[in-house]
Amino acid sequence: MSNNDEIKSHAKVDLCAPNLKGNELRYVSDAIKSGWVSGAGEYVSRFEKAISDYVGAQDAVACQSGTAGLHLSLIALGLQANDEIIVPTVTFVAAVNPVRYVGAYPIFMDCDDSLCMNAEKLEDFFNEKCVFDGEILKNKLTNRRIKLIIVVHVFGNMGNMCKILRLAEFYKLKVIEDATEALGTYYKSGLLKGKYAGTMGDIGVFSFNANKIITTGGGGAVVSHEKKILDKVRFFSTQAKNDSFYFIHNEIGFNYRMSNVQAAIGLAQIEQIEEFVKIKNKNYNSYKKHGINLLPFDEKIRSNKWFYAHLAQKKEELMKHLMKNNIEVRPLWMLVHLQKCYKCFQSYKIEKANYFLKRIVNLPCGSGLSESSIVKIAEIIKNFYDF
Ligand SMILES: Cc1ncc(COP(=O)(O)O)c(C=O)c1O
Repeated sequence: MSNNDEIKSHAKVDLCAPNLKGNELRYVSDAIKSGWVSGAGEYVSRFEKAISDYVGAQDAVACQSGTAGLHLSLIALGLQANDEIIVPTVTFVAAVNPVRYVGAYPIFMDCDDSLCMNAEKLEDFFNEKCVFDGEILKNKLTNRRIKLIIVVHVFGNMGNMCKILRLAEFYKLKVIEDATEALGTYYKSGLLKGKYAGTMGDIGVFSFNANKIITTGGGGAVVSHEKKILDKVRFFSTQAKNDSFYFIHNEIGFNYRMSNVQAAIGLAQIEQIEEFVKIKNKNYNSYKKHGINLLPFDEKIRSNKWFYAHLAQKKEELMKHLMKNNIEVRPLWMLVHLQKCYKCFQSYKIEKANYFLKRIVNLPCGSGLSESSIVKIAEIIKNFYDF
């Protein structure tokens, strides 16, 4: 057993366990009784409608995972080999891998104080490192065309959408919002007041992995305001069938559709999302009340407060200490531009991301977390610092 495994095996307070106390069992058993357990079935369309109604999108396409949703989005927007795509370095790697699935090239951007893409630096990058002829934006270094920005709304925060959308419009770029961690986050004020994460770019993608604000066990959804885009996403998610009786396929598709059983869980979960957000908020405030510093969320937004990031002193020692006390914690993801598969790609002035990498410890944040667990965790952290 490695030192790491030994530490992990003691963990008792989960980082982010799912909360399945609503209609999940009832809907799943209904789906099973109906005999519709795979891609077709009424729960899939009910779940899609519930998601699109909740965020205010024209429609949604439910799929097997957030990663599948991102892959389908790139295909639906026509991204191809040799195109370049702006991505953040502070993200789970699943936001970047689909760029390589389509053979495109990532360019890594730094984060700002919200952990999301730094829009100021993005503008500097376009000014310093690119040429624009009024139609096409080209990277001076590679002479390749930049076509798209993937913004990740990290931990339930919101990227600077006002500025990113302005830049995208000026440079004629598409925008995918990776809102996998930010279902339920929306602007409370400003020009984008009332807009939900995932609904401002060309496409938004959600994840319903077990640790997300709502779960389907594993799953995702793609939203957009453009029917044409969603039709493409749906088409490619079901093996690109041009004729479903004679099985004619003029393009290469994927088996990425969500199953009816997953959607049954999802429908029960979306019914509870506002309750989950309330609990997440209360627990976030409770940590702070008990003296634990947590990274703030932008004041202009109502955040779903998905993850609680503590800025730690002696990060490694603190994580070991908490894990030894049966508290599951997690550091920030290793920055994507430093990962073995991505070191060879271009990155632009990554600084702030390094600062956060050295300090962030994510604390337990599940909506089932009790007040007594928070008090205990806060005591353990304070004792560690006082020692
Ligand atoms: C930022 C980000 N992007 C993409 C994904 C991929 O979602 P999934 O696990 O559903 O494939 C996740 C979560 O897992 C994520 O956190």
